[in-house]
Amino acid sequence: MKLPQTLGEYIIENQKDFPYASGELSQLLSSIRIAAKVVNREINKAGLVDILGQAGNENVQGEDQMKLDVFADEVFIRALRARGEVCGVASEENEDYIAFDDPIHSTSKYVVLIDPLDGSSNIDVNVSIGTIFSIYRRVTDIGSPVTLEDFLQPGHQQVAAGYVVYGSSTMIVYTTGNGVNGFTFDPGIGSFYLSHPNISIPESGKIYSINEGNYVHFPEGVKKYLKYVQELDPETHRPYSSRYIGSLVSDFHRNMLKGGIYIYPRGTKAPNGKLRLLYECNPLAFIAEQANGKASDGTQRIMDLQPTELHQRVPYFIGSRKMVEEAERFLKEHGE
Ligand code: AHG
Ligand code: MN
Ligand code: MN
Repeated sequence: MKLPQTLGEYIIENQKDFPYASGELSQLLSSIRIAAKVVNREINKAGLVDILGQAGNENVQGEDQMKLDVFADEVFIRALRARGEVCGVASEENEDYIAFDDPIHSTSKYVVLIDPLDGSSNIDVNVSIGTIFSIYRRVTDIGSPVTLEDFLQPGHQQVAAGYVVYGSSTMIVYTTGNGVNGFTFDPGIGSFYLSHPNISIPESGKIYSINEGNYVHFPEGVKKYLKYVQELDPETHRPYSSRYIGSLVSDFHRNMLKGGIYIYPRGTKAPNGKLRLLYECNPLAFIAEQANGKASDGTQRIMDLQPTELHQRVPYFIGSRKMVEEAERFLKEHGE
């Protein structure tokens, strides 16, 4: 009987195919894998810890329970610092990037950008949440202190990107620019197993995901597109189904497997929407493209945008290629 491949085995086996193969990226991915297990464990007992805390008047660590997104942030940063492959981390949770400027890390060549816990509004209600990560080679000289420039790289420079979805099961999905693979966590054994090799997004689908409560704020092109997807036309499988979890990772993951489009347009909450280019949009765009999908800001390829600040937001259209192109046509015709 052929045993399923673990994530650890897969990383090592595929290291040889990677153009910069030196084992450092493999080590880095292993750090993320370990941090994901720790965060997963904490998420799975999130409600329980509160109950125990109340019953015993003391929480497990004897201190105030940290909010899970702060906890996840600390776990990922600690895991990345514990080894020597990363010289700095920028996180959605922190205003500025963190430079690992001790002798072990300053000679490392990678920087990591991370949304440690995506979908925070779903934490307390047992709905799927995630982690998103993005890895670049630094552009400044190795050995010198890491700078903002190392983090403000366009998405097409990504070396690897991935996400963890803490859902009905926990999965890691990632790419190193050679296709997309998904690994499902077996909690009894404590390992991730290759369950979704070579993921490909259907070129078209029947699902659209958008917070339609914000309709009044949407640009005309998006409003027209929404009316279009709701029309009756059996030939093009319309009307599409509306599915919106409110965790980008989970919405994207579903649409990637089933075919669909996720939209967070401008005009909602801020002129450029809500989602962050560096921590959310670029990593998922890399995965989408590697799985034959598409990611755009409505007019341009997400991964070609030159970031100007760490927490920059952009309008976001991602998923099945033909659906994203269809939405772009509406924006072009009716305004974005
Ligand atoms: P985060 O929890 O990291 O701040 O991200 C939340 C994001 C994204 O996951 C989700 O799709 C979107 O916010 C939901 O926003 P709305 O509540 O405005 O729909
Ligand atoms: Mn997020
Ligand atoms: Mn977050």
